[in-house]
Amino acid sequence: GLPHPAIPLPRDLYGERRKNSRGMDLASEAQLAELGTVLLESLREPSLRKTGEVIRNPADHGDIVGRVEEATPEDVQLALTAASEHAHDWAAVAPAERARLLRGAADRLEQAMPRLMNLIIREAGKTASNAIAEVREAVDFLRYYAAQVEAEFDNATHQALGPVVCISPWNFPLAIFTGQVAAALAAGNTVLAKPAEQTPLIAAEAVRALWEAGVPRHALQLLPGGGETVGAPLVADARVQGVLFTGSTEVARLLQRSVAGRTDARGRPIPLVAETGGQNAMIVDSSALPEQVVADVLVSAFDSAGQRCSALRVLCVQEDAADRLLEMLLGAMAELRVGRPDRLAVDVGPVIDAEAQANIRRHIEQMRARGRRVHQVAGRALHPLDGGTYVLPTLIELESLAELEREVFGPVLHFVRYRREDLDGLIAQINATGYGLTLGLHTRIDETIARVLAGAHAGNVYVNRNIVGAVVGVQPFGGEGLSGTGPKAGGPLYLYRLLARHPRGVAERW
Ligand code: SER
Repeated sequence: GLPHPAIPLPRDLYGERRKNSRGMDLASEAQLAELGTVLLESLREPSLRKTGEVIRNPADHGDIVGRVEEATPEDVQLALTAASEHAHDWAAVAPAERARLLRGAADRLEQAMPRLMNLIIREAGKTASNAIAEVREAVDFLRYYAAQVEAEFDNATHQALGPVVCISPWNFPLAIFTGQVAAALAAGNTVLAKPAEQTPLIAAEAVRALWEAGVPRHALQLLPGGGETVGAPLVADARVQGVLFTGSTEVARLLQRSVAGRTDARGRPIPLVAETGGQNAMIVDSSALPEQVVADVLVSAFDSAGQRCSALRVLCVQEDAADRLLEMLLGAMAELRVGRPDRLAVDVGPVIDAEAQANIRRHIEQMRARGRRVHQVAGRALHPLDGGTYVLPTLIELESLAELEREVFGPVLHFVRYRREDLDGLIAQINATGYGLTLGLHTRIDETIARVLAGAHAGNVYVNRNIVGAVVGVQPFGGEGLSGTGPKAGGPLYLYRLLARHPRGVAERW
C-alpha cells in the first residue's frame, strides 16, 4: 500500500532522494502537479481509485468521498528512517525560512477554501459554518506559530527534538491536524503525521499545501491508518523524540505508557503532549439572562453535533430558574434543523460513524433504563435520517452530576439543578469528574464569578458566553487533569515543549 490517501505518492520520497542546494529533497513541480490533479480527480470521481478503504460521507453513506490506502509496516519504517536521517537538515533551516514556508501553506489553504469546505462537509459531516471556521483555525495555527518562531527562535539556542509523531482526531480534521504539524515543523522537528482513520483525505490536503509551499517531503510525511497498525509502532520507535496527540483519555494513557521511561540522547524524557476529553459543565444562576443562556447552550452543546472536546455536557441550573430555563431550552431545541450539512440551513449534522452513533444511543438507553427523563427532539429533521449516522439533539435530566460516568461525544446534554447555597458543592462535583477542560458560567454576580474561577479546575473558562471555538493566540486551548498534559495549543508555551532543551541563558561579566 501507499502511505497516502487516494494519491499515488512518488516512491522516491523514501528511495532516491533528490536534493536541492540546502540538502532538502523538495518535490518537483511535475510531481506536485500530478498530485494535485489526482487528488482533484479522486474527489470528483472516487471510483478512479480502485484500491484502499472507502471513505463514506457520514451524512449519506451512499456518497463515497474517496479511498485511502493504509501505510504498511514497511512504509512506517521507511518514513521513520527518512524522518530521522533528515532531522538535521530541517532543524538547520533558519526559523525565518520555516516561518515563510508555513505562511505559504496558510495562503494556499485560504485560496482553497471552497474545495476544503466541500471535503470537510463530506468527509467529516461538518456544517458549512463549521467548515469555514475549521479552515480559518488551520490558517491561524500556521500563521501564529510562524510568527512566534520568527520572533523568538534561533537555531543556536532553540534546538529541535528530531522526529515527532502527530496523531490527530477526526472532529477537527484540518484545524487540529494542521495545528500539531505546524507547531512541530515550526520548532524545527521532522513530522510523521497520522490522521484519524475517518478523515485522512482532508489531512492530505493540509500536507499538500505544506509541500507546495516548500516544506520538504522528508520533513513532513503522512501515514494514514489505524491506531494499532500505524500509530502504535510509530510511537514505540526509539527514533521518535516527541509525540503530539489529541483524542481520548484512554488512548493518551496507552501512549504515555509507550513513551514512559524512554529518553533522548541527553537523558531527557520524550515529551508527550496530549489533549483529551472533558466532562464540561456550565453553571447558570438565577441572575443570568435566560434568552442569552439558551442561545449559548444550543451552540455549546449541539453545534458540531456535540463532537467537540470543548462541548457542553452538563448544564447546572440554580433551582429557582431551572423549570423556566428547561422549558425555553426544549422549545429552542425543537427548532434545531437536523440533516445533511451540504444543505446550508442545517444546524446539526451527523455523528462521525456507526460506532459513535451506537455508543451515544447506548448511553441514552442506559439513562432511560435508570429512570432518568430523556427529551429527544424529533421536530425538525429536514429529510429522512436513515441514510447517515444521525443522533437527534437530546437532553437528559439527572439528579446529580455524579451520575455521569464517562464523556459522551455527541449531541447529548445533561441537565442538573443545584441550590444556591450548594455552589461550592457543585464546583467540587465538577472537579470530581477528574476532567478540567472547558467551563461555562452565566451570572451577573461578580462574587460568583470570582468563586467559580478560584474553585474550578478547568483550562478554559467562559463567562456569559458559549464555551466552544477557542481562537488561536487569543484563547490558548487545553485542560488539566484527565483533559490533558498541556501546554496549551495556540498559546505561547506550546513550541517550547517541542525543543530538546530549555533555551540556554548565558550571563557573562567582563
Ligand atoms: N478548540 C476547540 C474549541 O474550542 C475544541 O477542540 O471548540
